[in-house]
Amino acid sequence: MKQGELLYSGKAKSVYLTDEDDVLLVKFRDDITAFDGGKKEVLSEKGAFNARVSEYLFRYLERHHVKTHLIGMMDRSTMLVRRLEMIPLEVIVRNVAAGSMARNYPIKEGTPLDPPVIVIDLKDDARHDPMLNDDLIFALGLSTPEELATIKREALRVNSVLAALFDSLGITLVDFKIEFGRGKDGVYLGDEISMDSMRLWDKKTGESLDKDVFRFGKGDVMEVYRRVSERILS
Ligand code: C5P
Repeated sequence: MKQGELLYSGKAKSVYLTDEDDVLLVKFRDDITAFDGGKKEVLSEKGAFNARVSEYLFRYLERHHVKTHLIGMMDRSTMLVRRLEMIPLEVIVRNVAAGSMARNYPIKEGTPLDPPVIVIDLKDDARHDPMLNDDLIFALGLSTPEELATIKREALRVNSVLAALFDSLGITLVDFKIEFGRGKDGVYLGDEISMDSMRLWDKKTGESLDKDVFRFGKGDVMEVYRRVSERILS
């Protein structure tokens, strides 16, 4: 597999064409950003840790019948993926109130949410990812009712599989963000699932084991990413 032209460069990953039409390369870079790119750093090895955790969680989800874009790994920080037509929705699933939910609504951080809450934002940095609802999604032509129902169902399935996995590791899956794309035979889970896109709390200590460590200067980000990766991959 040969690396081709750069197709797209995001805040933490770059996507390249390959010599096969349906296959792309996703390079997880060492960049870390927060607050719409307002806070930025480069952390050595961060790309490799997120790529490895993402690979592991995608494979785990595949075993639980969730279709993902993962094909394999090219190297420690580069994933070979199925080419999808990405849907510009950030699908957030919340099991516990935290982050923007506790900031923007009258609910205390740490309140359990049962059933889980799905929030869908428009993936649009320039507009600060505004929150959508079903009517807006249809009016903007972003998805059909049928496809959106599939997206929500899959998001909840990802949540129950991963929440159970993390629970067995002594970690609460507080919330996470995923993205979907259209493949030849329906909707696939794309992008990544890593410490950058999940909120993880240690069950015993309540310690943050995710990007909140970077967002709020809670300590050594890479030390936390290394530690949580070990727990996930062990
Ligand atoms: O900031 P907020 O509380 O809305 O984030 C909810 C979850 O979605 C968090 O786990 C966060 O890391 C993730 N997220 C993300 N990318 C975004 C927004 C949120 O990965 N652009």
